[in-house]
Amino acid sequence: MTLTRDTAASYRAPVHLETERLLMPPLSGLHAAALTEVYAEPEIARHIGGAALDAEGTAAQVRRFEAVWREHGFGQSALVTRVSGTFVGRTGLHPWPQWDEVELGYVVARRIQGRGLATEAARAWLDVAFRRLGLHRLTAVIHPDNAPSRALATRLGFRVHRNDITPAGVPVVVYEQLAPSQRISRAGGPDC
Ligand SMILES: CC(C)(COP(=O)(O)OP(=O)(O)OC[C@H]1O[C@@H](n2cnc3c(N)ncnc32)[C@H](O)[C@@H]1OP(=O)(O)O)[C@@H](O)C(=O)NCCC(=O)NCCS
Repeated sequence: MTLTRDTAASYRAPVHLETERLLMPPLSGLHAAALTEVYAEPEIARHIGGAALDAEGTAAQVRRFEAVWREHGFGQSALVTRVSGTFVGRTGLHPWPQWDEVELGYVVARRIQGRGLATEAARAWLDVAFRRLGLHRLTAVIHPDNAPSRALATRLGFRVHRNDITPAGVPVVVYEQLAPSQRISRAGGPDC
């Protein structure tokens, strides 16, 4: 199940997350320039929009993310290191209305990859999604060749659900993860 309007309406305040190493305020126009720099690495942009993510394209994307926050009460968080206050990426939820699903997405600056920061940020959002927002299921929509993203999804507990084509015509592997409550009920149990 994805987020219903009733559920969204009951939790509207933007989510300010914090983890051991990260501050995670809602991503906004304040972060657009720093996000453009993160996207400037070809290895970052390759599977998430490529050439469209120049300064103008990134600003437009951030405006779409802000609209998601307003409409759904969830969205993308900026990732800011506690130690230096540096912006290093984004992580959060994004709806796919065409599929009636909500995706957990993540981007971490190349220079700071390999330290578990994406895992840390994504786990914080999994907790919010399942325990505070009451979502029953999340997806991760990943290009088949995006090995780091597939490894991260697996590390987070996602499993392959299907191969699909996005509305933009891109082939993807759709991973899914059920909320803990759904794992128990779908596995069967006493009728009580
Ligand atoms: C997908 C992406 C976020 C993964 O970044 P990442 O740095 O590999 O992920 P993490 O931050 O969780 O780090 C995991 C790595 O750090 C290591 N690590 C170190 N300390 C760790 C810790 N405390 N916890 C977890 N992992 C840790 C892990 O062993 C792993 O290393 P490995 O890749 O050699 O196995 C990154 O590749 C990216 O931004 N890609 C471009 C954008 C993109 O494609 N996004 C996904 C769209 S579907």
